[in-house]
Amino acid sequence: MSDRWYKKAVVYCLDIDTFADANGDGIGDIRGLIGRLDYLARLGVTCLWLNPIHPSPDRDDGYDVADFYNVDPRFGTLGDFAELLHQANSLGIKVVIDLVVNHTSDQHPWFQSARSSPDSPYRNWYVWSESAPADRHQGMVFPGEQGETWSYDRTAKAWYYHRFYKFQPDLNIKNPQVRDEIKRICAFWIQLGVAGFRMDAVPFIIEETEPGNPDSPKDLDFLTDLRQYLQWRRGDVVLLAEANVEPDQLVKFFGDAGGSNSRIHMLFDFMLNTKLMLALARQDPEPIIEALRETPKLPAGGQWATFLRNHDEVDLSRLTADQRAQAFEVFGPSPEMQLYGRGIRRRLAPMLGNDRRWIELAYSLQFSLRGTPVLRYGEEIGMGDDLALEGRDAIRTPMQWSHLDHGGFTSGTPVRPVIAEGEFGYHRVNVTEQRHDPKSLLSWFERMIRTLREAPEIGAGTCTHIDVPVPEGVLVHRADDVTGTMLFLHNLCTKDAVVDLSSVYSEAESPNDVLADREYPDLGKFAEVPVAGHGYRWIRLRRCS
Ligand code: GLC
Ligand code: CA
Repeated sequence: MSDRWYKKAVVYCLDIDTFADANGDGIGDIRGLIGRLDYLARLGVTCLWLNPIHPSPDRDDGYDVADFYNVDPRFGTLGDFAELLHQANSLGIKVVIDLVVNHTSDQHPWFQSARSSPDSPYRNWYVWSESAPADRHQGMVFPGEQGETWSYDRTAKAWYYHRFYKFQPDLNIKNPQVRDEIKRICAFWIQLGVAGFRMDAVPFIIEETEPGNPDSPKDLDFLTDLRQYLQWRRGDVVLLAEANVEPDQLVKFFGDAGGSNSRIHMLFDFMLNTKLMLALARQDPEPIIEALRETPKLPAGGQWATFLRNHDEVDLSRLTADQRAQAFEVFGPSPEMQLYGRGIRRRLAPMLGNDRRWIELAYSLQFSLRGTPVLRYGEEIGMGDDLALEGRDAIRTPMQWSHLDHGGFTSGTPVRPVIAEGEFGYHRVNVTEQRHDPKSLLSWFERMIRTLREAPEIGAGTCTHIDVPVPEGVLVHRADDVTGTMLFLHNLCTKDAVVDLSSVYSEAESPNDVLADREYPDLGKFAEVPVAGHGYRWIRLRRCS
């Protein structure tokens, strides 16, 4: 059995500023989070991924860092952070932080110095061009909100490169001092006790940008080097990367041509995310089967991190135009729900019409498919979004804890309004109420995650589609490892179905449902296995220990 902790982890992603406010200033803080660790432990979370915690002008929700060696004073102090690590650790929860080193804030002292003079020791920490680069209107990550990737800086009297917003100048990875500094930043946080990093925008970090070349070379060896360095500092450190690249580019991020996992341990499974969305929209498992079939084999030790929702828009850019139109039609039909022409700025529950059976089905799929599941805060209680807020803020509203004012998030004025009205308002959707209701979505998540812990095959083993004739809408897949085999049925459409699984019966040893949307009759010889519309069954086929 694998002893790599990240293969058995349940990752929970949260932003400190919208999770829990302890001091009443309206901004979530570290002490607030410490006070909710017991909630996370009970849910079954084993690893937290914190969105950026550093001091920041906060023009991109913290993804514009002004000091990599501190926590934002609005969240607390480094002392509070060390206490968080200690308290989390004593509950068996690891903490991973966002590492945003593709760029800094333009307010970062390095950039301020760099722009001030060509002789600044930091000048070469950023990417400059004396003349206007011909490709400056290419490669924008935020179309509509960002007009170019090179901007002229009057103080510097030169153009600087920014893959993202104008206020996020890219660091120059060609500069060995920048590479050393990135290592130093990681080493600092490891020394404090973080278990790893969610590396932001990795394909752009390693880009050795050349003005005028929209396809500048990438230095993947920096990732090898960083991994080596970090692993010596902490043997079980984990790098979890955001690299939304073409499928044929993916494997390189995990390792070199020799096939070893020498770079990133875990990559977000953007392809599966997109295909899952399409499958849910079409009520047809085919896109999932395609994703399972087409995804390249990973080097041993490499792992996918699965997700349905994260802190950004649902990115549909890798679908064909027709497929994208279909997903938009079902999940984000009105323009206010869409973003950058490629995505949906909604949470899952509203996308699925707040249909409890559909929501369970979707999360059952995510958690039973390959890889390590990542859950965004609030999804476990079925929170909604606030489309009145700008851009991605729609899905970044404060956590809804109770019936109290502002959903119990703060006693002050919340940093963003808490959703108060309608079917997703905090009076209807909150933790306290769901905790006391064994039938709630939260209780379901607790049960589902507990079951996942009893089925290590899911995270550590292989995931394969079982190609048997099935009624429309049904997906059958299995997870195998040295510990045993799990079998899964998911019915993506609303019609009840019966599946003939007699071909796998010979492998079964006292099979039973360990999780299902309802009670089903005995499995018999697998000749007629029912699964209700939007239903699911997790069946333990055999256990080898
Ligand atoms: C990543 C983050 C996103 C952020 C961007 C710039 O894509 O997920 O939220 O805006 O990087 O740092
Ligand atoms: Ca606060």
